[in-house]
Amino acid sequence: MLFGSNKLVALDIGTSSIKLVEVEQSGRKVSLTAFGFIPTPPGCLNGGEITNPVALAEAVKTLVGQTKTKRKKASTAAWGTVIITKRISIPRIEEHLLGDQLKWEAEQYIPFDINEINLQYEILRNVNTNPEQMNVLLVAAKKDYILKYAEVIETAGLTCSVLDVAGFALGNCFEANYGKISGKVNILLNIGAGVTNFVVVENGEVTFSRDIPVGGTTFTNDIQKIMGITTDEAESLKISAGTGEPVPQEVTEAIQQTNEVVAEEIRRSFDFYMATATDVAIEKVYVTGGGLGIPGLYEQIQSILNTQVENLNPFLNVSYNRSVFTKEYIAQISPYASIGLGLALRMANDS
Ligand SMILES: Nc1ncnc2c1ncn2[C@@H]1O[C@H](COP(=O)(O)OP(=O)(O)OP(=O)(O)O)[C@@H](O)[C@H]1O
Ligand SMILES: [Mg+2]
Repeated sequence: MLFGSNKLVALDIGTSSIKLVEVEQSGRKVSLTAFGFIPTPPGCLNGGEITNPVALAEAVKTLVGQTKTKRKKASTAAWGTVIITKRISIPRIEEHLLGDQLKWEAEQYIPFDINEINLQYEILRNVNTNPEQMNVLLVAAKKDYILKYAEVIETAGLTCSVLDVAGFALGNCFEANYGKISGKVNILLNIGAGVTNFVVVENGEVTFSRDIPVGGTTFTNDIQKIMGITTDEAESLKISAGTGEPVPQEVTEAIQQTNEVVAEEIRRSFDFYMATATDVAIEKVYVTGGGLGIPGLYEQIQSILNTQVENLNPFLNVSYNRSVFTKEYIAQISPYASIGLGLALRMANDS
């Protein structure tokens, strides 16, 4: 590129906060150059659907101002239960013909009107066993739903150069830190506020992604209902419990109950995947996201999935300037940074 810069600023737009991540890349070395976050104004997002793009854009603009990033090109990710991924196996054809063929066939796999959806596909090169077949992962969502994310970025005064899907950004973060692990299946869980991104990485490729509608908000709502208090009060009691401050017994019990419900939802996606896919054994489940602050959730997931669980470290392979960021700060932001980091590592004009 002769003019301008290909460097991206990543914006992970979540229900509870917006995260900004900026990295510098040279060869295979990655270093963190900026991180920031700002609370999402209430009522802007509902399960991933953007309901107030103007207020969201205002928050993005404030965040960009706070972090003083000079970059003008952004990467961001859409998410939500309405984004569908589907793995299909079709007779092998030449790759340049695949796009057109899928357009014709998509309706048989995806329950949307083809004219209203954005359809992306990924050829799964590493999971093929039969040479006459090809495995393809379809990713589909309504165009207007996805494009609202780009609209927020553009209204905030940036160019939206990469519009990703959150689960795939999470997969990208995993690959950058842990490499392409061949012959293995790993599950990634990002427990946010509105959803838990559930991602399967098989032989270094994302082969499944689904947003499960449970997360930190599920706990807040349950505490609110049981105690008969406001959402704000319930949220703050939940955080108190998460930071080890004393809370009423009812709160502890509500959290324990919801832990079981949330872990059960995750198990259902896990079982769904196991039933449809692979004969390769699950190696590990990597967990991340602000929801990990909830006491007992990690242990509940571990016991219900009966698999080795580990915290995903988005900075495992990412260095940072020690005079700008302390080790403590990096540890503190780690659960929030995974999707943003995966987005920061995309290249401009990827999609
Ligand atoms: N110490 C804590 N104890 C309990 N819960 C916490 C703690 N810290 C954060 N959370 C919860 O984590 C959630 C925020 O996590 P995160 O930033 O990953 O979500 P998000 O990206 O905004 O949401 P989503 O991706 O679902 O839209 C909130 O529900 C918040 O209440
Ligand atoms: Mg999130």
